[in-house]
Amino acid sequence: MRAKLLISFSLIFISFAIFAFMLYLAPLQGFTDYIFRSIFSKYFGGIDAFFIPYLSLKNGQYIQKQLKEILPENNPPLRSVPQVLIANSNELMHLYSLLKSLGYTELNINMGCPYPMVAKRGRGSGLLPFPEKVLSILGECLPKISMDVSVKIRSGLNDEAEIGAMVKVLNQFRLSEIIYHPRIASQLYKGRINSRMFEEIRLESENKLVFNGDIFSQADFRQRQLQFPETDTWMLGRGILMNPFLAEEINGQDTAIDEKLVRLQNFHNELFEAYSEKLSGPGHVLTKMKQFWSYFSYSFRNQHKVFKLIKKSSSIEKYLSAVKKIFGGEW
Ligand SMILES: Cc1cc2nc3c(=O)[nH]c(=O)nc-3n(C[C@H](O)[C@H](O)[C@H](O)COP(=O)(O)O)c2cc1C
Repeated sequence: MRAKLLISFSLIFISFAIFAFMLYLAPLQGFTDYIFRSIFSKYFGGIDAFFIPYLSLKNGQYIQKQLKEILPENNPPLRSVPQVLIANSNELMHLYSLLKSLGYTELNINMGCPYPMVAKRGRGSGLLPFPEKVLSILGECLPKISMDVSVKIRSGLNDEAEIGAMVKVLNQFRLSEIIYHPRIASQLYKGRINSRMFEEIRLESENKLVFNGDIFSQADFRQRQLQFPETDTWMLGRGILMNPFLAEEINGQDTAIDEKLVRLQNFHNELFEAYSEKLSGPGHVLTKMKQFWSYFSYSFRNQHKVFKLIKKSSSIEKYLSAVKKIFGGEW
């Protein structure tokens, strides 16, 4: 009897260990700022760590606006991971010192940002064609950094072949993890992600790999989980903006449609109030909220109509009346 019980407990433990996973919220510059992160974490669960959109330096100086992002009092009492966008060792050490002084114990290096203005200056995905440069930056800095360091990468700037040499360099360091979005930078977010590449790199990498890219539904997640059973950490980005319940749903938590609408509306209202307080003038608030609705509209059956209604609001009054109509109707 005792042996049977022991076996059942072991089986439960093993199956829990196999299916246990962690979900990260991706950094989305312009969307997942400290206001969004704190209000989101009040209304929705399922996220194990919040990645803070990148910090960078301008002419060697901190960017004031970005400092608010990392102040501990502006972050939910959950794991918040700051990210740095750097071109060289000096920039990395400068930003590291700031993060260290604020008590952070981990940082993420952005080696994936695809935007030409960033990449042209050798930051983000602009580092991917230069493994020897990354070798020199990490070789010089990591011995001086007393925190966990992870990197976030794509397959390459212009060519998927770039990742092979980069992984060989990264294998020379003990990183806490590598978050990998299997697209090249010149694709931006277009085309399909290359999942075969993810598996190839997972096998080659001596550091743990986190999957990131195009998980928009519970079904997408299950499909990737079956495809990569050894992967236990997943980063969700646009999928969360399109459906803030996604992480809860992936964790098996279902919510009735009526309750969903109420939570979504309360979440929206608090977000709207916070940005109305923070931003100067109704024009800025309207622009910000319209950007959010380019994703939020996917929470409604009639996405196209919903977004059209929001987009054509030419004043805050018209915007609020559109929102009321959307939450009150059959959308
Ligand atoms: C508007 C926007 C802003 C982004 N900002 C960042 C950023 O600050 N740092 C970063 O590493 N990635 C950034 N990304 C990339 C996302 O973190 C993520 O890797 C990408 O969206 C793919 O994941 P998804 O398909 O789940 O959205 C951004 C993406 C978008 C669409």
